[in-house]
Amino acid sequence: MSEHHSSDPKAEGDGAAEAPVFTPRKNGQAQGVSEELAAWMRTGWADTEIRDPEPIEQAAYTAKRRAALSARFPGERLVVPAGNLKTRSNDTEYPFRPSCDYVYLSGDLSDDGCVVLEPRPGGGHDATVYLRPRSNRENGEFWLDGHGELWSGRRHSLAESAQRLGTDTDDVRRLPEVLRDAPAAPVRILRGHDASLEELVAGVRAGGAEDGEAAAERDEELAVALHDHRLVKDEWEVAQLQRAVDATVRGFGDVAAALPEARATSERYIEGTFFLRARVEGNDVGYGTIAASGPNATTLHWMRNDGPVREGELLLLDAGVETTTLYTADITRTLPVSGRFDPVQRRVYDLVYAAQEAAIAAVAPGRPFTEYHEVAQRVLAEGLVEWGLLEGPADRVVELGLQRRYTLHGTGHMLGLDVHDCARSRTEVHLHGELRPGTVLTVEPGLYFQPDDLTVPEELRGIGVRIEDDVLVTAEGNRVLSAALPRTADDVEAWLAERLPRG
Ligand code: GLY
Ligand code: MN
Ligand code: MN
Repeated sequence: MSEHHSSDPKAEGDGAAEAPVFTPRKNGQAQGVSEELAAWMRTGWADTEIRDPEPIEQAAYTAKRRAALSARFPGERLVVPAGNLKTRSNDTEYPFRPSCDYVYLSGDLSDDGCVVLEPRPGGGHDATVYLRPRSNRENGEFWLDGHGELWSGRRHSLAESAQRLGTDTDDVRRLPEVLRDAPAAPVRILRGHDASLEELVAGVRAGGAEDGEAAAERDEELAVALHDHRLVKDEWEVAQLQRAVDATVRGFGDVAAALPEARATSERYIEGTFFLRARVEGNDVGYGTIAASGPNATTLHWMRNDGPVREGELLLLDAGVETTTLYTADITRTLPVSGRFDPVQRRVYDLVYAAQEAAIAAVAPGRPFTEYHEVAQRVLAEGLVEWGLLEGPADRVVELGLQRRYTLHGTGHMLGLDVHDCARSRTEVHLHGELRPGTVLTVEPGLYFQPDDLTVPEELRGIGVRIEDDVLVTAEGNRVLSAALPRTADDVEAWLAERLPRG
């Protein structure tokens, strides 16, 4: 009999007696468990099943996203895994983060989960989220296994999850047999997250003699379709991104106030200060914090964060809080450690700011995605020509891309569940596409003068400046989600002055 649970609130409990017998891992735990102890551990527990759990607030949105995917792949079975725990060392594991597409379609965050869209004979799909059920009391799993309830915490029961997610649920341990016994239909799986499920699907396909290369292409189409759809955020996603940004703004404020302590320690203090805010208000940081002081700011992804934070230097902080729903902000501010820019630092800062201002103005519906990048590059090129660092005219510089020696990276990217969101979407709708209302992206020009770059005057060497904001494309133009943080040099100084304890 199936342990299938419908999202119908009247559905019954998890059917503990049907679960496979638990085999303890060889960690010594199971040895020496007497019959008496095992029997006693099965009894004396209160019924803690939650009869009427609150549905997750995004349930209506996940349903719409599944419907869009269903319409894109009629008659096909679609398998989107969350992924599994990864060993960190011996018997410890990395903190788990489910695959973004699984989260997008289900709202669930469990390891080993899997969304399956099963084609209905009459058209459309039925969605089931396959999960590990709450750990079993009858077979001792709950206290003998390292992932049992008394070791790792309580998982939702299948019935609870059905109600919370607004989908049917089933035991993920049944998924192999479900996929093997399902009526013949083309199958697509999202690759890269669950090797054993991929192997299983490959086996099912081999039965249907499907060509490996064709299968890989079809799976890639599923991944691309999901990223295409994620390009335009729904209103719930925009609200999550705003939450991520707001928490990040508070984290930047914490860092400003902690600069004196950081000066006495290292960039690690900056990273740790921001991380505290991320953990308290969210799930984590959405990517490794870049806390780069002085010349370290010229390394684009400086994440070692083990350098000193010195008076007179610029601190480049690129950081983002990831919400508990896994949406991330991605914001950079370049702050004078002592509270005031010196004239050279200010000159570099002002040019990056001018590039960002121009780029933000180019973010509007119907504009090509590449336009804001080109606008920023042009402003930087013109400035560098004016300073005599590059030989003009600016047209020639831009055509040859010569400004890239000092700016290195693109001006932004999509933002969402992934910090570099929708990376697999089709070029024609993304990089060569037009901005649409609901797109969220970063605008992040920068200038980086390497400490050993003999083509720049000595006074510029070792200065790195990036200003990065998160911007929503609206029907009328855009909204800077991170507008609560100061951007002009004067505003940054005033903002620091309010926060830096003055001695
Ligand atoms: N934090 C990485 C980036 O700005 O893209
Ligand atoms: Mn960034
Ligand atoms: Mn970015």
